[in-house]
Amino acid sequence: MNYFVNEKGYYGDFGGAYIPEMLYPNVEELRQNYLKIINDESFKKEFHQLLKDYVGRPSPLYLAKRLSAKYNANIFLKREDLNHTGAHKINNTIGQILLAERLGKKRIIAETGAGQHGVATATVCALRGLECVVYMGEIDIERQAPNVARMKMLGAKVVPATSGSKTLKDATNEAMRDWVNNPVDTHYIIGSVVGPHPYPDMVAIFQSIISEETKKQLKEQTGSDQPDYVLACVGGGSNAMGMFYHFINDENVKLVAVEAAGQGVSSGHSAATTALGKEGVLHGSRSILMQTEDGQVVEPFSVSAGLDYPGIGPQHAHLFKTGRGKYVSITDDESLQAGLLCTQLEGIIPAIESAHALAYLEKMTFTGHENVVVCLSGRGDKDMDTYMKYFGL
Ligand SMILES: Cc1ncc(COP(=O)(O)O)c(C=O)c1O
Repeated sequence: MNYFVNEKGYYGDFGGAYIPEMLYPNVEELRQNYLKIINDESFKKEFHQLLKDYVGRPSPLYLAKRLSAKYNANIFLKREDLNHTGAHKINNTIGQILLAERLGKKRIIAETGAGQHGVATATVCALRGLECVVYMGEIDIERQAPNVARMKMLGAKVVPATSGSKTLKDATNEAMRDWVNNPVDTHYIIGSVVGPHPYPDMVAIFQSIISEETKKQLKEQTGSDQPDYVLACVGGGSNAMGMFYHFINDENVKLVAVEAAGQGVSSGHSAATTALGKEGVLHGSRSILMQTEDGQVVEPFSVSAGLDYPGIGPQHAHLFKTGRGKYVSITDDESLQAGLLCTQLEGIIPAIESAHALAYLEKMTFTGHENVVVCLSGRGDKDMDTYMKYFGL
């Protein structure tokens, strides 16, 4: 079974590039050049140097002793929260800004939900002196205010998306619209493993540093580079794909992807895509998405802005359909409780997105010997207001 992209841009039944004609030259330019650029020695050198000296990689693989005692397994946290700007998103934006430069682009656009991808994009634009415009849903602008302030200070223009549920899907629509209108000088830094081919593959390659490091670190700490389980939350799916990438062909490593159930899978306020969705096309690729009988996108809901998305990347759809990955979901309440537990047992305040992955540990049973890696995709600073209100602190 092949779990990676084929030469046509598909993962099994999913993927492809469903784009308006106006975007064809852009996407085609990217498709023809991305592997050549990424595999070039000078690109690799610059990418890895920046990951080390600017982002602070490798991020630690931390054996969380008190969480391990609670769950009766060895729980390792892959500390993407310790990256510069506070989440895994910077791995991808460093890669894409270097690529945009090599393609001669002068202007960068991005969409953002939790604001972490927006901050990571604004950061690399400041670093390299490029113009930056970030589209963000009006609701997300409100609930992730600290990240909006950071983007503005970094020199980015933050444009509110006011249609639909005023969240990530709507911000992505606006960014696509901008790209159609500025096809020549603009590079669109998509923040997850979504969008037309080659984005899902390109973003997965940049994020695959997460599992590349995890393998080495596990080998050092446990003597084996294969854990029993890896867990990660899924919005579009980039931290999960980074965490899964180098384990995908290790069939005895179980891959667990945790989606946001919002107020409950059947509540009508959910973002549990694989539970609720059907096959269809969204934002340039064929995947699984939440839709009505006549194919209209259903507005998603999650307390977590980064998981509040009605689709998943095409590679995830393939892992789900083939059964290689297990796709589950966690409610708002369960995630917030797990965030508090991690904080009080380990002294680590996780992003609410990452807390969804942690929460699934409650639903698993262990015998005391399993090695379990959870991708701690980001830190909770941006979510303090939500945590404080929920717990009445
Ligand atoms: C900390 C954090 N984790 C996870 C996500 C979800 O994105 P993805 O599924 O692409 O990793 C986000 C999105 O903003 C995020 O900020």
